[in-house]
Amino acid sequence: MSWEALATEIRGCTACPELVAERDRVVVGELPAGARLVLVGEAPGAQEDLEGRPFVGRAGQLLDRLLAEAGLDRADVGVLNTLKCRPPANRAPKTPELARCRPWLERQLACSGDALLVALGGTAVGWFFGRGAKIGALRGSVATVDGRRVLPTYHPSAALRFGPNGAPMAALREDLALAASLL
Ligand code: URA
Repeated sequence: MSWEALATEIRGCTACPELVAERDRVVVGELPAGARLVLVGEAPGAQEDLEGRPFVGRAGQLLDRLLAEAGLDRADVGVLNTLKCRPPANRAPKTPELARCRPWLERQLACSGDALLVALGGTAVGWFFGRGAKIGALRGSVATVDGRRVLPTYHPSAALRFGPNGAPMAALREDLALAASLL
């Protein structure tokens, strides 16, 4: 199935009544043709819900900056989320929501060929490695999960929360540079 046909299906999803009631837009994500790097975040926030694009708020602006520092152009990078709809008031995704949304991301990743995947933050890392997986222990190297290459790292929101001199910022910067070096 083509990316566009899949995106149309995802936009029509009504599996999570609470999210459907609150959302303005389904944020399908972006997969530029031939992308060799695909980032996976958690879920859309307010700005993403408004614009219908992933990572366009504060965390997204930081991400764009760190990608550029690593020599990567956001326009060439896939950006997906574990949930396609904004959880109300930006609460964490619930386990049943993640389970209902899982097949969409699975199918999106099937469109990504053998791209290097970067899991941003606890929810995405848990999606690949199982709940309870520890970013601090896993980050900094690429693992193979179900035949896919996955690099776990911190979420840009964590980097913002701990500030420019915090450990998550340094780790995220380092891990994106590692990802770029592997392409
Ligand atoms: N945080 C995420 O995890 N995804 C987005 O798209 C925006 C913020």
